[in-house]
Parts: sequence; C-alpha cells; structure tokens
Amino acid sequence: MSLVQEIEPLKQSAMAELAAASDLPALDQARVKFLGANGSFTGLLKQLGSAPKEERPNLGKLINLAKAEMEALLSARRSELELKAALPKEATDFSLPGRRPVLGRLHPLTQVTDDIVRSFRKIGFVVADGPEIEDEYHCFDALNTPADHPARDSQDTFYIDHPSRLLLRTHTSSVQIRVMEKQQPPIRIIVPGRVYRRDNADATHNPTFHQIEGLYVDKNVTVGDLKGTVEFVFKELLGSEVKLRFRPHYFSYTEPSFEIDFSSPMVRKMGKEWLEIAGCGMVHPKVFEKVGYDPEVWSGWAFGFGIERIAMIRYEINDIRLFYQNDVRFLEQF
Ligand code: DAH
Repeated sequence: MSLVQEIEPLKQSAMAELAAASDLPALDQARVKFLGANGSFTGLLKQLGSAPKEERPNLGKLINLAKAEMEALLSARRSELELKAALPKEATDFSLPGRRPVLGRLHPLTQVTDDIVRSFRKIGFVVADGPEIEDEYHCFDALNTPADHPARDSQDTFYIDHPSRLLLRTHTSSVQIRVMEKQQPPIRIIVPGRVYRRDNADATHNPTFHQIEGLYVDKNVTVGDLKGTVEFVFKELLGSEVKLRFRPHYFSYTEPSFEIDFSSPMVRKMGKEWLEIAGCGMVHPKVFEKVGYDPEVWSGWAFGFGIERIAMIRYEINDIRLFYQNDVRFLEQF
C-alpha cells in the first residue's frame, strides 16, 4: 500500500478509538497509540522522507490535514470526559433541604451597648474612649478619691509592676477626666468600656466587666436633667413600664450623689421590687478644679452603670459568667 492510501484508513481507526474512549486514561492511551512519538500516525510523517520528492508536498499536506482533524476530536473529547469526571458519581437528590451557612451574630453585651449608645446619640451624646491601663491620677486622684480610699487598696485593684504604679482601670470614670483635660465645655459624652476589679467570679461578679459612663457639662445643669435623661434611655432600652428611683448615696467625685434603682415587671419576676443599677450625681467642684474648669461657671452631672447588669435584666440571665464562656448554645439565643 502506498503512503497516500494509508492516511485515510489510519485516520479513521484513530478517530473511532478516540471517539470510543470512555474515560480520560483510555483517551490518553488512544492518543499515544496514534499520535505519540512512536504512534502509528506519527510513523507516516517519518516515512515522508522516503517518498518521491514530487509527491512530498501533497503528501505532507494530506497528513497534516488528517492530523489536525484528529487533534480537534481529541481536544473536544478531552473536554467532554473532564466534565464527566467532575460530575458527581451518584444521582443528585433535589428534594434534600439546602445547606444554610451558619451566620455569626453580635454578643449580647455588644447588642446592649449598641442600643444604649444609639439612645444617647439621639439626644446629642458622642462616644469617647480612654485607656484600660490607667494611672492612679486619672482613676482616683483627679476624681477626688483620696489615697486612703479602699478602692485604691492592692487587694481591690490590679496594679501593674511599673514605677509609676499603673493599674487596670476600676471604672470608666477615668475617661471623664481625660476628656475634660482635652476640651472645654459644653460636654456630652458616653463611654462604654471594659473595667477590672479584684473580685472572685460568682453569679453576679467577675474580675472584668463593662460599664457605660456618662458626662454632661454645661451652664445651669440640674439633677432634673440627669433624671430625665436616664429615664429616657432606660425606657427606650427596657420598655415604658420601667420605673427609676434615685436614692441618696456617696461618691467622692459627685455632690450630691445617688444610686439609681430600677423596677420593672422583669425585676419583679426575679423576686425583687427594686434593683440597683447605677451610680450618679452632680460633678463635684473639686473635679472641675482639677481639670481647670471654673465651678462657679460650669455645672454638670455624671453617671456610671454596669452593662452586664442591664443585659441580665433584659434577657433574664441569672449568671454573669455565661457572658464570658463563649458557649455557642448560650450565644445562639441572642
Ligand atoms: N464609678 C462608679 C462605679 O464604678 C459609678 C459612678 C458613680 C460613676 C457616680 C459616675 C458617678 O460617673 O457620678 O461604681
């Protein structure tokens, strides 16, 4: 058989085998058999050299045309088989329910903080921030808290081994001082943040917890403004049945000072009529003097309350430690 007669039948059988290959290895086998370095079709090209010179151009053209046809089929078949290999082996059950991605959510303390901040923003307060590692001056002295005050006992506060007696702030009140040092009245700030005390953890105590501080300084500020503001925010947060009571108290940085008690159907469900929720009062003149404000010109009020306390009332949570354990079964409920 002459070379030209071999081309067509060889091409036909190569095309048949390529088309019949049922998976990628079989396809590759067929490719090697015909088009590999030692493949039979490649063999035709090698024989071209021994063909009569005048036939060579035409033969070469025929061989290359046939080869191009085979290669086109090879690549089409490869795509088909790759797709087939990628498909699932088993039938798909379209009646199965879909898979939902698990969505995260905000921690209940973050949710409560955000809600409190949102309420205060409505009445013109802005959020301020300060360091958790504080010095004694901002945490105590500037707040008119003398050196013999029990809060300054190393049994009550975490001190850092540092020449300037740094400590972990025991309350967010230190930020009142930092803000007043930097700017002139009027001031309307709230300060959500983490605080630290040397308490043993139990159902109502934890060595770290969160507070929100508020400070309002302007001319002619009264206790009435304080009560109205706090009432507005608590009603927004916990419902309109909420009642607040101001009870005289002592804080060294306010005069007069009060504790705020809170009553609501939820508190009664917990078996109590009133629950203490915050400390507050009119900013002490000595505090104003420390930051260089004239107490004859400026007046103001401040408060501080525990965020955990509010979250516990709002969600009827009976153990503060649940907030810090990161148990998904707990967190999923909010
Ligand atoms: N710092 C107080 C505490 O941690 C709470 C407090 C009381 C904050 C009276 C105030 C205030 O701003 O005026 O218990």
